[in-house]
Amino acid sequence: MITREEILAALSRVIDPELRRPVTELDMVRDVSIDGSEVAVTIALTVVGCPLRSSFEDQVAEHVGTLPAVSKVTLRFDVMSPDERAALTTKLRGDVETKGIKISPRTRVLAVASGKGGVGKSSLTVNLAAALAQQGHEVGIIDADIYGHSIPHMLGIQRKPVVVDKMIVPPVAHDMRLMSIGFFLDDNQPVMWRGPMLHRALEQFLQDVHWGELDVLVVDMPPGTGDVSISLGQLLPRAEAIVVTTPQPLAQEVASRAATMAQKTGMRVVGVIENMTSDVFGAGGGERLANELGVPLLGSVPLDARVREAADAGEPLVTRDPDCEPAQAILAIAHAIDESRAGGFTRTLPLVS
Ligand SMILES: Nc1ncnc2c1ncn2[C@@H]1O[C@H](COP(=O)(O)OP(=O)(O)O)[C@@H](O)[C@H]1O
Ligand SMILES: [Mg+2]
Repeated sequence: MITREEILAALSRVIDPELRRPVTELDMVRDVSIDGSEVAVTIALTVVGCPLRSSFEDQVAEHVGTLPAVSKVTLRFDVMSPDERAALTTKLRGDVETKGIKISPRTRVLAVASGKGGVGKSSLTVNLAAALAQQGHEVGIIDADIYGHSIPHMLGIQRKPVVVDKMIVPPVAHDMRLMSIGFFLDDNQPVMWRGPMLHRALEQFLQDVHWGELDVLVVDMPPGTGDVSISLGQLLPRAEAIVVTTPQPLAQEVASRAATMAQKTGMRVVGVIENMTSDVFGAGGGERLANELGVPLLGSVPLDARVREAADAGEPLVTRDPDCEPAQAILAIAHAIDESRAGGFTRTLPLVS
């Protein structure tokens, strides 16, 4: 004879895919009824029309349905009341001690910056984030590039975040939470956001979003040295910058300005990544820039059509084809970035004023 405790123990392995906690901890289990070997479970969803139903169905079948004493499990859904949602929000927020910025003080913030667009900043953001997730970290991504906001596409995310009692729950793909400026922009509208608006949007990303206990938050910065870099620097004084450049000398100069900007807003520059290394574009630009900035060259990623193909398929290359050359290069860079957490790279830039 199966007991309620055994069912609850099995349900503690059913994880809300976005809140990333067991349903038992989130007070989402509304009812468990047992009739001989037949079990019925009711889970209260945070919002009506929650898109995660099938995940809960699969997980309940896997964890409860496979118990030896259970012959059949039925899953029903209910929806939380406003009071329950408020209680959930309070519970989740209670995890984080900081006021204002709602990310854990131990979260490492990595800002991926470049002087200009088209150098592979977003591709590297997605792949570095996925590589860090693969290496066991809990990872979040902020797509702060108002000009591009290509990350949802690169991760195959089509839906917008769910809002639970003013708390924004980021969609999750490939085990990573994502917030994108694109979720709030009408695609047909020209981008006319100015500094103060962007600052407010970023502030909201950081304050109203339930990021949970992140190890790393990777930020796809807008290209150049504009307002958003300053805003982000102000909002996240602990941010560290990773500068992306292509091998050509002109690109280096432009990237160098981005690095200077990052440093002026108080970001430590972790290092430089050279992207699109090839016979066509050459090699060595990353190395020269790294030397100029007095920071390490974290690695070079070859020009390879598979980088673009994976992005178009909505999957990071490092998970889609981890053994190919560009994926291996990115995995090694992620490893170097992870190692640098210990404070191995401490040289700062000479300030250009
Ligand atoms: N190493 C690479 N090899 C081949 N194509 C790449 C590589 N890195 C980026 N790309 C492609 O170049 C284009 C620009 O990259 P993207 O990441 O969007 O740049 P950014 O964010 O800097 O504007 C995209 O089509 C992307 O798929
Ligand atoms: Mg981009």
